[in-house]
Amino acid sequence: MIIQFDEKNLLAEVAGKANGISRAEAERSYPRALKALKAVQKQSEQGVFGFPHLPFRTQVVKSIAQYAGEVRGSYDTVCVIGIGGSALGAWALDCGIRGPHPVQGAFTAEHPRLVILDNVDPSFTDAALRSMDPHKTLVLVIAKSGGTAETVSSFLIVRDWLEQAMGAETKSRVAAVTTDGKGDLFELARAEGYRIFGIPEDVGGRFSVLTPVGLVPAALIGIDIRKLLRGAAAMTHLSWQPDLNENIALRAALYHWLVWTRKNKPIQVAFPYSNHLSGTAFWFRQLWAESLGKAINRKGEKVNTGQTPIAALGTTDQHSQVQLYIEGPNDKVFTFWAVKKFDSQGKIPSRKFNLPAFDALAGQSLAKLIDVERRATAAAMTEYGRPNCTVTLDRVDEEHLGAFMQMMEFQTAFVGELLDINAFNQEGVELGKKFTNGLMGRKGFEQYRDQFAAYEKKRDAVK
Ligand code: PA5
Repeated sequence: MIIQFDEKNLLAEVAGKANGISRAEAERSYPRALKALKAVQKQSEQGVFGFPHLPFRTQVVKSIAQYAGEVRGSYDTVCVIGIGGSALGAWALDCGIRGPHPVQGAFTAEHPRLVILDNVDPSFTDAALRSMDPHKTLVLVIAKSGGTAETVSSFLIVRDWLEQAMGAETKSRVAAVTTDGKGDLFELARAEGYRIFGIPEDVGGRFSVLTPVGLVPAALIGIDIRKLLRGAAAMTHLSWQPDLNENIALRAALYHWLVWTRKNKPIQVAFPYSNHLSGTAFWFRQLWAESLGKAINRKGEKVNTGQTPIAALGTTDQHSQVQLYIEGPNDKVFTFWAVKKFDSQGKIPSRKFNLPAFDALAGQSLAKLIDVERRATAAAMTEYGRPNCTVTLDRVDEEHLGAFMQMMEFQTAFVGELLDINAFNQEGVELGKKFTNGLMGRKGFEQYRDQFAAYEKKRDAVK
């Protein structure tokens, strides 16, 4: 597994003093990075959060692989019902290993389709149901809390749709991924006799891709989950090292934190130059946003911190976003995600037409062009004083993707420590959820229904 982090375009020597930080400044901050590392290590040992342990939970992998073996061949579609951290990991893995949907080819029992119902748009849900055959669909309902309104409502619809076609067999076509022994989904799954996979209590949604939340769908669509975890285990080992040359998650965290807080870059653009990594960029967007967007720090002081993550795609977004990135407000830091070896080179035929734009490219390759375009964009940004850095994956396979996702989880945890915030809670999304529950008539949420009514009254008073 080879992943590299190149921070040179974040340095004052390259990007300019106004927008880059000096090596000396980074070296002076090394003790803080080390302190962050130790704090993460201590909390991980104390069981405050469990993501660093996930690659080593071999028993979980065994039971998932066994289940995948039992059901293999009986479906051509896996329908995941989940949202946020309970959906984005599966999407990132599918997109990363098998490619974005439009180019995945025909779906069969050997190459099943992954349909993710992560929204309650009724026309989307209806179209999804019409596109699947209930006799050949395996349903996976995923919710850590076991009560998320979107997931529960979609599941009730899908369950009914399945039951109408499968009758008593329905229970063997549904698996639930939820907190073991807790919550309404667990109760229902037990009562109905679904296969249940537990989510460890100490792993939050956005850190859960290497729990059954990501691993069950991945195994069911044919991704090698052992290799995923092997890569993540190797990255975990590196992420505990004090040496910044080895520990790229800590180095990336340190440089990102310095550029963000000292050069005022409240926005980070994740810029993969690989369609396979585009799903991972959306997964990262949630990880970074929910973990680091916080009202108070650990001392209880109001900080309202956070760095807004944007998911872009190279080269495509060079033609839609880069104008803004280069000439607009200098409030962003860019992280290019490069891939060294593609599965195919995309050889461009050598035929010449005596037309300069065509002849220049004849005989070359798309692999070369995408690499050149990324380096050219990074150079242009640097010349305009737009700080940027690059993470390079040797290739996009299970080992590298597992390692890369684990690297980003560590990096997020380290930045959380450097900011002195709790990166593992998400109080900010709770109030909207409570209002929804109150408005949908859920027992115990009456006060939020009333609070919402007061808010509406305030709005109505405005002419
Ligand atoms: O990261 C998180 O905790 C959230 O994004 C959750 O994953 C999301 O709200 C879904 O929660 P649940 O799995 O309980 O349905």
